[in-house]
Amino acid sequence: MIKTRLIKLLAHAKKYIVLQVLWKWLSLICQVVMVYTISVLLEMAVRGGLTEEKIINSGAMVFGAMLLRFFFDRQASLTSFKASVDVKRILREKIYEKLLKLGASYRESITTSQVVQMAAEGVEQLEIYFGKYLSQLFYSLLAPITLFLILLPVNAKASIILLVCVPLIPVSIVAVQKFAKKLLHKYWGIYGELGDSFLENLQGLTTLKIYQADEEKAVEMDRESQRFRQITMKVLTMQLNSTSVMDIIAYGGAAVGMGVTFSEYMKGNVSLGGAFMIILLASEFFIPLRLLGSFFHIAMNGMAASDKIFALLDLPEQKEKEIVLENEPVDLQFTNVTFAYEKGRSILNGISMNFPAGSFTSLVGVSGCGKSTIAGILMGRNKGYGGNVAVQGKELRDVTEESLMKKITLVSHNSYLFKGTVRENLCMGNPEATDMGLWEKLEKVNLKEFLKNQQGLETKVSEKGSNFSGGQCQRLALARALLHDSPVYIFDEATSNIDVESEEMIMEIIRELAQMKTVILISHRLANVVASDRIYLLEDGNIKEAGNHEELLAQNGAYSKLYSYQSELESYGKEAEKVVMCS
Ligand SMILES: Nc1ncnc2c1ncn2[C@@H]1O[C@H](COP(=O)(O)OP(=O)(O)OP(=O)(O)O)[C@@H](O)[C@H]1O
Ligand SMILES: [Mg+2]
Repeated sequence: MIKTRLIKLLAHAKKYIVLQVLWKWLSLICQVVMVYTISVLLEMAVRGGLTEEKIINSGAMVFGAMLLRFFFDRQASLTSFKASVDVKRILREKIYEKLLKLGASYRESITTSQVVQMAAEGVEQLEIYFGKYLSQLFYSLLAPITLFLILLPVNAKASIILLVCVPLIPVSIVAVQKFAKKLLHKYWGIYGELGDSFLENLQGLTTLKIYQADEEKAVEMDRESQRFRQITMKVLTMQLNSTSVMDIIAYGGAAVGMGVTFSEYMKGNVSLGGAFMIILLASEFFIPLRLLGSFFHIAMNGMAASDKIFALLDLPEQKEKEIVLENEPVDLQFTNVTFAYEKGRSILNGISMNFPAGSFTSLVGVSGCGKSTIAGILMGRNKGYGGNVAVQGKELRDVTEESLMKKITLVSHNSYLFKGTVRENLCMGNPEATDMGLWEKLEKVNLKEFLKNQQGLETKVSEKGSNFSGGQCQRLALARALLHDSPVYIFDEATSNIDVESEEMIMEIIRELAQMKTVILISHRLANVVASDRIYLLEDGNIKEAGNHEELLAQNGAYSKLYSYQSELESYGKEAEKVVMCS
């Protein structure tokens, strides 16, 4: 019922919890004073001796106690707020810091939607745990004991019976706890899955529409939502049943206490005022625990969420990286590198490659042979590779992510453009770039004229650049990459899915860049790699052939065959185009 790790994490909230218990306890004492004063007054009214002065004094006493009680209750609410105010911020910060530590490869361990759910709703549930549940837990132990000690001299029998009935509520809580824990674990699991598929379907909605698969996915999601509804109803039923049991115990216990008090009064073992006091305070024995029961269910939900949050916080991190790359040319070397996304399915089988500083290297091979996986390793996204990858002679694993990102820029076929303006997107590449610098790169990628006719650098960019054509998006992404001005550039199919003019223009820039920087080009189209210093032909995670274009042609192997085949296809395509144009 108490999660020590959570308490340790939010240690500063402890003092607010102690204060809350104190304020609540003081409020209870005020109530006892009020009830006691009224009881004494009642006693005097029946037995005689009631004077005007006594009535006024008692009235003042009751009024004073009421005012104090109001003040203490207010303080309790205020400290409850203070106890919970930092919970969300601290936990969300921890989740955020952890994700930063996991770095670019966080998705190897957890899905984005699960992180979002945890950081949003999971953390929300924990607010009640800290703000209300913990203090109530301690107060509900303190309150019955205090009342017992006060009422014991009034009538021992009734007080003992009331105290004995109180633990029945925690017993019912413990009884339901194990079942609740299992159920809530399942609840969060199903909730997570629903979140995953919702996010995926939303992101892929256009594709689903194109293939008219949206209906099928909607049915699938309906099914998942139905499962979620069922488990939610189960959780609610469990909570409702459990609170009903607690109500029966609480009100039943109070009724038994009152009954015993009445019989003691009839036997003359307790005065009228004493009996009145016990009857008025009997329910106070149970109310704190009953309230604890209500908070308990929300707290349980929070604790189940905290298990998930701690599972994330406990994910193994790469050891603290220390190496910062030097301000020197960057060479890269793969020695016997192996990689697998999942156990038992090797993607790279011990490959060795060299990318000397300032060289132009190309990676080619059929789809799925592992080219992008290599780019992912270099960008620090695919961790857990075997063998060695050296950057400036230093092991890539030990190089800080920040330093690596300064040295290597990846341009892929789906580079992300952010909602905002052209300027904002470009300045991500270099926040210090001047307008002149930005226009220079835009001119290079042939976007200057187009943007001049729009709103220049302030031209709006929609999410994922959806208000730009595919070629324009790619050229804008290239301009941003050029502004980054890193010593190494990786182009992963940067020219696929775009028009021939854009492709030719991008290739021209890549070739120009290759004269100053280390360039790695991944391309299906062999005509693009002809100018490379070295070409690696990959097959099933192995290097099948390596050399420059002429050497590979001379080998008359797979590269040569593929090159001739593609050349033939392209010249056939051009011939056909000519015929169409002439006719
Ligand atoms: N995130 C991933 N999880 C599991 N398997 C993956 C993942 N990414 C890629 N793979 C697998 O790794 C293999 C190599 O993929 P990779 O993306 O490196 O190929 P590629 O050579 O870049 O192909 P293409 O030319 O089509 O882009 C593929 O068989 C693919 O199924
Ligand atoms: Mg690829």
